[in-house]
Amino acid sequence: MKVLLVGSGGREHALAWKLAQSPLLTKLYCAPGNAGIAQVAQCVAIPATEFDALARFARDAAIDFAVIAADAQLVGGLWDVLEAAGVPALGPSKAAAILEGSKGFVKDLCIQAGIPTARYRRFTDPAPAKSYADTLLSDSGGHPVVIKADGLAAGKGVIIAASEVESHKAIDFMFEGGFGQSGHEIVVEEFMEGEEASFFALCDGTNVIALAGAQDHKRVGDGDVGPNTGGMGAYSPAPVLPPALEQVAMDKFIRPTVAAFAAGGRPYMGVLYLGLMITRDGPRLVEYNCRFGDPECQVLMPRLESDLLELLLAARRGTLDKVDVRWREDAALTVVMASKGYPGPYEKGQVITGLEEAAALPGITLFHAGTAERDGQIVAVGGRVLNVTATGPTIAEARKRAYDAVDLVHWPDAFCRRDIGWRALHR
Ligand code: AMP
Ligand code: GLY
Repeated sequence: MKVLLVGSGGREHALAWKLAQSPLLTKLYCAPGNAGIAQVAQCVAIPATEFDALARFARDAAIDFAVIAADAQLVGGLWDVLEAAGVPALGPSKAAAILEGSKGFVKDLCIQAGIPTARYRRFTDPAPAKSYADTLLSDSGGHPVVIKADGLAAGKGVIIAASEVESHKAIDFMFEGGFGQSGHEIVVEEFMEGEEASFFALCDGTNVIALAGAQDHKRVGDGDVGPNTGGMGAYSPAPVLPPALEQVAMDKFIRPTVAAFAAGGRPYMGVLYLGLMITRDGPRLVEYNCRFGDPECQVLMPRLESDLLELLLAARRGTLDKVDVRWREDAALTVVMASKGYPGPYEKGQVITGLEEAAALPGITLFHAGTAERDGQIVAVGGRVLNVTATGPTIAEARKRAYDAVDLVHWPDAFCRRDIGWRALHR
């Protein structure tokens, strides 16, 4: 099979690395890819935003199956464009990607399907939104209130406001276009206290199979301080999600959601990412995403024993009831190495050294996120640059291996969090 993967980050490198191991694969292309992906796939210089050019390439290259990895493409309808061009692809479709594309839609679905989540209301005008935020704040016993832009906002659309002044400022910011079109509608919701965890499933429109749990580290600094990022490190399995809670995730969250999508005439086919808050009163939904997490994917792929391509094809073909998925016993942990300044502006083009030495250590796989090749050298071109990923019998062992490898990799502006895995190790 000829497969086209669309995207260019660490998640896409992990997917490419795993797809490349499939006995079903004859040729893997990645558009646009990065310097690491180029080691396992043929990179094609088409930006992921150019839907028509991607469809033309896929048709001309006789691609048998396309995998779309990122939210912007899925919510933007790349699946529909590829399928209309006769290229079978892993979705979801644009209609079903509303799961990530509209926070308000998902909150309403929670009410209909009886899925536990934070109390909320949807707004298209600032005045009633502010007054509801005031009510939540005064009811909350000192907790903040959460203001969310309805649409995609590059991971930045959530503001946690501790006072009336802050919440009013956030609401005005969103309605004045601070997050562009995404903030024309907003959700105001109650703050949930607890520990966050992610759980992944794969759906074919009707059938759904559990994948695995993981935990991310969203803040830039050690001890979970500083601004939010795309994620600074992850591990799997997540001790906060023992098998009994995974069962709850499937029975109380994922299955009712997939059933509601099917009943609503927009069957959900693709990866389903469930973001949970484990509160004192049990797990509650924080959000859904329509794709693998980044960097969560980078710890799921090294643990996956089954053939990824076979699983993704079964999702597209509606045959997930005929596959089973196997995981290795090992834990996996990934440390994101980023460039100084991230998640703000950072310098590009610095040469990275030590990659081969790090990759030669036991249990280590290096996934590239923001790299490029210039004159035979690998240079840093993104905010998140590398995902140093280790497997091991325990999270503690995987973490030790990962940091031993991190210490061999250098570029002048490199930094990483030094405490990835702390929640798991503090249990
Ligand atoms: P989201 O984009 O929905 O994932 O939100 C980004 C982050 O905001 C989440 O990962 C949580 O850390 C936080 N968050 C969102 N909603 C809530 C909530 N209701 N209570 C507490 N934290 C929240
Ligand atoms: N790591 C969080 C995300 O991919 O949304």
